[in-house]
Amino acid sequence: MTDTLADVLHYHRVTKHAPGRYARSAGIMDWENQPNPFRLYSGVPVLPLPFDTPDPTDGHLSLYQRNRNRPRPFDLVAIGKLLELSLGISAWKGAGKSRWALRMNPSSGNLHPTEAHLLIPGGPTGGEGCGGHYSPLTHVLEQRASLPSELWQQLREHCGGDGLLVVLTSIHWRESWKYGERALRYCLLDAGHALAGLSFAAALLGWRLTCLPGLAPARISRMLGFDRIDWPAGETERPDLACWIGCGHRGTPAADLPEALVDRLAALPWAGHPNRLSPAVVDWEIIARTADLAAGPLSAPGLPGTRYHPLMEEAVSSLSGAQILRRRRSATDFDHRHPAIPLAQFRLLLDKTLPRHDLAPFDARLPPPAIDLALFVHRVEGIAAGLYLLLRRGDEIAAMAAEMAPDFAWRKADAQLPLFCLQCGDLRQIASHLSCDQPIAGESAFSLGMIADFETLRREGTPAYRRLFWEAGMIGQVLYVEAEAHGLRATGIGCFFDDEVHRVLGLRSERFQSLYHLTVGRPVEDRRLTTLPPYAEAERLRQRIHGRNPNEESSH
Ligand SMILES: Cc1cc2nc3c(=O)[nH]c(=O)nc-3n(C[C@H](O)[C@H](O)[C@H](O)COP(=O)(O)O)c2cc1C
Repeated sequence: MTDTLADVLHYHRVTKHAPGRYARSAGIMDWENQPNPFRLYSGVPVLPLPFDTPDPTDGHLSLYQRNRNRPRPFDLVAIGKLLELSLGISAWKGAGKSRWALRMNPSSGNLHPTEAHLLIPGGPTGGEGCGGHYSPLTHVLEQRASLPSELWQQLREHCGGDGLLVVLTSIHWRESWKYGERALRYCLLDAGHALAGLSFAAALLGWRLTCLPGLAPARISRMLGFDRIDWPAGETERPDLACWIGCGHRGTPAADLPEALVDRLAALPWAGHPNRLSPAVVDWEIIARTADLAAGPLSAPGLPGTRYHPLMEEAVSSLSGAQILRRRRSATDFDHRHPAIPLAQFRLLLDKTLPRHDLAPFDARLPPPAIDLALFVHRVEGIAAGLYLLLRRGDEIAAMAAEMAPDFAWRKADAQLPLFCLQCGDLRQIASHLSCDQPIAGESAFSLGMIADFETLRREGTPAYRRLFWEAGMIGQVLYVEAEAHGLRATGIGCFFDDEVHRVLGLRSERFQSLYHLTVGRPVEDRRLTTLPPYAEAERLRQRIHGRNPNEESSH
């Protein structure tokens, strides 16, 4: 084992929660220092994105099957729609005097460490493109650089035709303010959610999201001029990954950008001053150290070895794909007096989590899937309550079975899905306890743990640590969205007792590790909160934040 791998595994170990012994954090909510959830770049022109344009009307399955959808041109209306439906504000919530924004993507603690930077084309006449940061608060791009049209053409040619480049970054402090050392895990999970959210919104526009796994964070930083930014102390944005969103007509873009192209982008006069998010930042130094150790390029794109399961094509919702995305919320409570959910819903939900090379969001060209689902089934009609395993990676059970408790039944539980019943029984209390004693994990229809194969780290190297969490976040986003389509609701659960989960599954070595939990059921709405529409006051906010009428400022 290399030293770097040992250090990454060390991070994973010391950030485990156990009953009465949580990973290191401040232990209090330091409200004076609560980070601003909105990053803004000042001193640059802004490009307002339209938000009153009609949503795509295609149905539920068009979230997955982009070929059903007419590809839109890559103009500002469609790019605005992409961002609005993936990373935009979904509503403002209020209680008493407090008001806070929710976003299309969920986030641990609603702290939203993920930011997006874009390189987009000029207008239809092929003018200058632009490199900008997306501000969901006012739904604008802060234009940090102009892209000469000939440079844009080079990028476009390299990536296989029309499209745009999106870079996701994380501000670790936003999460470590509350969660301390465990925060790196949450930032990575949130990035996975955002990636799948972008992939779904792109699919509705007839576009395909493809990652550039070879473009490592340090090169992305240079490419976007991050190395020349005077960051507020402790509030640096660290690139997670870059992806191309195109039509997918001329094949997939190469896995990396040529160094000469990165150099040319890096040489642009990148401008803009990032705002300070907190008066004082606590440095949880193990986070930056581990992020650095895992920051290399990713290897082995593709989905080899995974058995292809045809999509179950029942369209279960009269809602459009866009309406489903807009309704996504986390459940805070479940109705456990209501009848159990139908088996058909359970099967359709699980089906969408299976990786498929031609369907969103798992066609993003990340390395082969490495996560299976351990399911705590509580209340699903026609299926016994108990512990189940969904082998997303194929029907290969040998490695897992060898590790797990010897008395598990391994009974095939579905004719189509790679679903196995390990043990029958009422696991409501156990499931709730495993998720840091949160009732939502036991009062739902089912909850689950996402079990990653850490052999991947030995095979692919430490950068795989990032992509394992992204895969978990993407599975989470699929379940959030699919639950909404069925009139159900999900909640991601980052707080769980790691090794207690492994113990219940009989996992003795460190090879299989639970990275993320999630629960799904029939929600009970919290009627004490007020809800306001996302962008009702956006024009006024734009005036206040960006100064003059931003429409006059744009040089685009
Ligand atoms: C990675 C991750 C971990 C989360 N962990 C928990 C958790 O342990 N308990 C919980 O009640 N909610 C959890 N949530 C849900 C968030 O609190 C929720 O997404 C956030 O408050 C925003 O609300 P919304 O999802 O309704 O937009 C988690 C969400 C994510 C993405």
